[in-house]
Amino acid sequence: MTDRAGSPSPKTSGRRGSCTVVVGCQWGDEGKGKIVDVLAPEAKIVARYQGGANAGHTVHAGGMEFVLHQIPSGVLHPGVRCLLGNGVVLDARQFFAEYDELAARGVQVAGRVGVSARAHVVFRHHRALDRATEEVAGRAADGSEIGTTGRGIGPAYEDKTSRRGVRVADLLEPDGKEAVRRSLHRANSRLGELGAAPAAGCEPDETLELAERLRGVVADVGQEIDDALAGGESVLLEGAQGTALDVDHGTYPYVTSSTTTAGGAAAGVGIGPTEIGAVTGVAKAYATRVGNGPLPTEFTDAMEVRMRSLGSEFGATTGRPRRCGWFDGVVAAYACRVNGLTGIAVTKLDVLDTLPEVKIATAYRIGTHVHRTLPATARALAEARPVYETLPGWQSPTGAARRWRDLPSRAQAYLERVQEVAGAPIVMVSVGTRRSQVIRLA
Ligand code: GDP
Ligand code: IMO
Ligand code: MG
Repeated sequence: MTDRAGSPSPKTSGRRGSCTVVVGCQWGDEGKGKIVDVLAPEAKIVARYQGGANAGHTVHAGGMEFVLHQIPSGVLHPGVRCLLGNGVVLDARQFFAEYDELAARGVQVAGRVGVSARAHVVFRHHRALDRATEEVAGRAADGSEIGTTGRGIGPAYEDKTSRRGVRVADLLEPDGKEAVRRSLHRANSRLGELGAAPAAGCEPDETLELAERLRGVVADVGQEIDDALAGGESVLLEGAQGTALDVDHGTYPYVTSSTTTAGGAAAGVGIGPTEIGAVTGVAKAYATRVGNGPLPTEFTDAMEVRMRSLGSEFGATTGRPRRCGWFDGVVAAYACRVNGLTGIAVTKLDVLDTLPEVKIATAYRIGTHVHRTLPATARALAEARPVYETLPGWQSPTGAARRWRDLPSRAQAYLERVQEVAGAPIVMVSVGTRRSQVIRLA
């Protein structure tokens, strides 16, 4: 087949590059940032496909820690282009604050970061609405408080799906300021209904200033990815949050407002689903959750305090303590199916190093029934009693392991069981925060 100019079509000739999705398998904070940072040198582009500044992706390099909320985790590798797809909601103030901070810390960002013109914008009034909605829910004490990050994510996606949102492209139009004013006006009447103070009236002017900066980073994300793939390059699509926080497949209503799962990755950057060649699920060696909602394997005793301290389990975005529990194999197997995982990256194995025994939930008992997949309601999940398998702990440090054979045999046995229960091969094991602390198995 030839294209109109008579030369071979790039889609049908030569070696097309590969596209890998990196997706969280649990409730977020699995260590996606670390895994993307490890994989990024092999990629031409790293692109975020959903979420916004609710994400907090931690990357360690050169003895420094970087927490990224909006900018993809490939940014510490100078040759990698970092893109924010149409599925992302962009907080422009946060984005440029992060951009400037990276630059101040010596990271070359100029010319390397691009934002889709179709990405929806998160305004300050979305944050105000997020907080006011949560406050009202908290006062009602009826279980409707989600425990959001307060970053305006829900209200911004609500505006998007109700077709009243303002996109980056709209801000750059001559009537961009008017679009912001309308959005602010609507938010203020809703804030009034919620009994909250109106959002700042200076926002349209402020946003217009940011829009001028945005003009310099606008990109055709889908086209750039397509070009890279046509040139035989590799692309990483970086998920935020995790499978159990997906708006459809998560523990609804205690979820975020986007499609976090791999099925949303192609739509969130503007390529076809047939471009996705691999899906790597990131799974922490135990479970954590920030915010409200079910966590079936949650520790009920001093064990939670111990794990929180061993794993430094405090939110990278809000600083809130993360709830902790044993590895939930039901959620892992569900993540494997929903995302079509081709491999799993297990993180934070080292955090379990000192424990005398470790547990894996393989099913839930709800009433008299045994469930091997995730029930659809929060009520059923609240009643779920995990069925555990207990394995002996390895009680020796794993942080220096770089090959499978360096791991204690009991740690190997634990990982083998995790792999069997989840139903996809482990392709990577992370044994510490540093880039080098990783075992590659594929
Ligand atoms: P993300 O949101 O999925 O990118 O994960 P976060 O960055 O919010 O949380 C993961 C935390 O665990 C970060 O503080 C990482 O530095 C840290 N981390 C990642 N991998 C490992 C690991 O293998 N071992 C240890 N001890 N910490 C890790
Ligand atoms: P990363 O990408 C962990 C949780 C919030 C809350 C729910 C809805 O770092 O893994 P939202 O602000 O999105 O409306 O909050 O989702 N949440 C996360 N939990 N990691 C995240 O991101 C999260 N982003 C949102 O705590 O329970
Ligand atoms: Mg995080």
